[in-house]
Amino acid sequence: MRSAALVAERPYEGATAGGTAVLSLSLRDFRNYAELHLRLSGQPVVLTGPNGAGKTNILEALSFFSPGRGLRRARLSEVSRTTGQPALRCCWAAHAELASVIGPVSIGTGLAEAAGDEDNAERRIVRVNGEPAASANGLAEYLDVVWLTPQMDRLFVEGLSTRRRFMDRLVYGLDGGHARQVAAFERAMRERNRLLKIGGADSAWLAALESQMAEHGVAVAAARRDGLGRIEAGMALATGPFPQARLAAQGVIEAWLADMPALAAEEKYRTMLAERRGIDREAGAATEGPHRSDMAVWHAEKDQPAAQCSTGEQKALLIAITLANARLIRARRQMAPLMLLDEISAHLDARRRAALYEELLALGGQVWLTGTDDDLFAGLAGQAEFFMVADGVVTPRAAFS
Ligand SMILES: Nc1ncnc2c1ncn2[C@@H]1O[C@H](COP(=O)(O)OP(=O)(O)OP(=O)(O)O)[C@@H](O)[C@H]1O
Ligand SMILES: [Mg+2]
Repeated sequence: MRSAALVAERPYEGATAGGTAVLSLSLRDFRNYAELHLRLSGQPVVLTGPNGAGKTNILEALSFFSPGRGLRRARLSEVSRTTGQPALRCCWAAHAELASVIGPVSIGTGLAEAAGDEDNAERRIVRVNGEPAASANGLAEYLDVVWLTPQMDRLFVEGLSTRRRFMDRLVYGLDGGHARQVAAFERAMRERNRLLKIGGADSAWLAALESQMAEHGVAVAAARRDGLGRIEAGMALATGPFPQARLAAQGVIEAWLADMPALAAEEKYRTMLAERRGIDREAGAATEGPHRSDMAVWHAEKDQPAAQCSTGEQKALLIAITLANARLIRARRQMAPLMLLDEISAHLDARRRAALYEELLALGGQVWLTGTDDDLFAGLAGQAEFFMVADGVVTPRAAFS
């Protein structure tokens, strides 16, 4: 299958001033796209088409303009287009011109070609304005990307690691240092795990790592408490039809922080780690810490845990949390985030759908919406760009004109 390139003639100047926006997107060998070129005005983007057309793939490509593994958490090589000829399965690339927090920026990313047989590790290349970047982590400086996908519908009932990741992604947008703190905690923890495993390690060396874990771990827990508190407060100010939620970061350090200052919590965690070396050596991992925390969510009005709410109520809670997060990001960065909402409209009744569109337009960032049914997006007529996606080909659609 060969994908056709599309270049819609639209000037870049049309970009919204108040929001992050992708003004051009190019893909090569990305999932079912051999090649794609889109130019965009900065308005909301609506992608419609049949199942398997390539709508979610475009949102996934956009999610790679932020740190991490994208909205499907795929391995980099999984994303490369399969052609039926395994030898040709290399290497996807995505490039975008963006209106970002620092102004216009050009970002390229993709899977690096393996350098020789001995290099089996997958490596993501990131270029900003043509210059190689040390890692994808720096992308957070330029833009915030938030997403909601059908896979997240099970967030409240699935294992807690998915919820913890979701919680930390929320906090990334609200606290510029959070991703660094999480990474530093994990680095120190991995090193301590390694030392415990090999045995006979110098106790001063272990103590130094435990001090780092305590310092970064308490910062992580504190940022979660603060971030979720702000999202909860932000939701309480919202007036639309989406539910209010109560949110809490639940973990050993998060609980201590309710009763003691950060320095005391650091000392307590340091002592705990030192005392648990034997247990942790047996377990092969640190058995207590912020890497085990969970995010608890309650439907405020019903006073019910989210896991006990109906599917529709859970979806509404997720939308409400995501919107509150986007409003806070806009307040912090003076720029709305890029929002990727996969198949959201189909789950909402007409009143909630209208409220969602109203809120997205008010936010002012570029939101990408997908669905199989064109009619769901009639409410955005004249205020969004519409594209039809079919078999890896994207064509503009003169919608509702
Ligand atoms: N690495 C890959 N190489 C080639 N094609 C792929 C690859 N990964 C996924 N695909 C294909 O991409 C197609 C489009 O997937 P995508 O999830 O984007 O569809 P969609 O339009 O969102 O459909 P739906 O409405 O069902 O959600 C699928 O048919 C899938 O098999
Ligand atoms: Mg899809």
